[in-house]
Amino acid sequence: MSNWDVEKIRRDFPVLSQKVNGNPLVYLDNAASSQVPNIVIERGSEYLKNEHSNIHRGVHYLSQKATTAYEGAREKVKRFINARDVKECIFVRGCTEGINLVAYGYGRKFVGEGDEIIISAMEHHANIVPWQMLAEEKGCVLRVIPMNQRGELIIDEYEAMLNERTKFVSIVHISNALGTLNPVKQMIESAHKFGVPVLVDAAQSVPHSIIDVQDLDCDFLTFSGHKMFAPTGSGVLYGKQELLETMNPFMGGGDMIRTVTFEKTTYAGLPNKFEAGTPAIASNIGLGAAIDYLNSIDRQSAIAYEHELVEYATEKLSAIEGVKLIGTAREKASVVSFTIENVHPHDIGTILDQQGIAVRAGHHCAQPVMQFFQVPATARASFAFYNTREEVDVLADAVQKVIEVFA
Ligand code: ALA
Repeated sequence: MSNWDVEKIRRDFPVLSQKVNGNPLVYLDNAASSQVPNIVIERGSEYLKNEHSNIHRGVHYLSQKATTAYEGAREKVKRFINARDVKECIFVRGCTEGINLVAYGYGRKFVGEGDEIIISAMEHHANIVPWQMLAEEKGCVLRVIPMNQRGELIIDEYEAMLNERTKFVSIVHISNALGTLNPVKQMIESAHKFGVPVLVDAAQSVPHSIIDVQDLDCDFLTFSGHKMFAPTGSGVLYGKQELLETMNPFMGGGDMIRTVTFEKTTYAGLPNKFEAGTPAIASNIGLGAAIDYLNSIDRQSAIAYEHELVEYATEKLSAIEGVKLIGTAREKASVVSFTIENVHPHDIGTILDQQGIAVRAGHHCAQPVMQFFQVPATARASFAFYNTREEVDVLADAVQKVIEVFA
């Protein structure tokens, strides 16, 4: 295995040292929500103990302190994803809100009847439903890039789909259900040849790869804090300034206005235009601390280590008779989804839980992926850089036991 001191890293995550059902916790549900390191817990606690107040509204000491911390977190986000300006970094509740914001603010303004929007066959519901709602309202057409039996997008078909009616492409970077890593940079380049903007759903890629929005040249990119070692309720929508400026606000309310009269409202500039109401202040300050944490570790080694873990888990699980892997793309990260012949994934999840192993069992908010592979659901082990090879062994032994119980 790579030179990665996993035991040292594990000490940063207090939740990992507990027992569940009498066994050491084996936490393999990182694609749903990753765990939170001490530095994030301490920063959140410090804010609540000594800084809690509303932002942008008060001249008093605490409000200014909270504002400085909140805007400081935005600055960290900007550097973390290499945005050009903090104006391009909108705090949202997570990816779902980020995508809905774009479907509403961009889609409802710039997409019309007969126009086409391209998504892919492996999208999370959050990157399907907002576009369907738009299509219903505007009479535009949703086109879906197909995938092959390994769970890889058929890029030639995507290229052939792009045309002068295409008005938007919204694509997942790493599939939460399959782990497939899509060639988004190449896909963005192709869309741009037709002048089409592209949104990248980076929920699963931000924790497992290094994101540079200028290098990708994506027009929008969104991610959730709770999948990258920060609290729930935090998240980011990145958008190119020139696009965000042309868009309608998503929600109206306090903090997103310049002036309000009963006759007319004028809107605040970026990023406030898209941040109506009191945001998740503590959570987004926590997101800033999670970025500090990620900056403090050797990320290249963390990514290489995770990659080895996924390969090891793939090897161990595929060697078990009766186990079928769902999603065997050549480029993969973090996720190993599987089924066991004649055992419902919910039963797999329940039996593993009795042994302290947390996996997700279900359709992973990606029902079309389940329909494609003709399974009702899968069990999914998803990894982070604090998981160990021994945990993979525990998982594989427990899966073997499930097979024996149902034999
Ligand atoms: N989208 C999250 C998952 O994949 C919740 O589990």
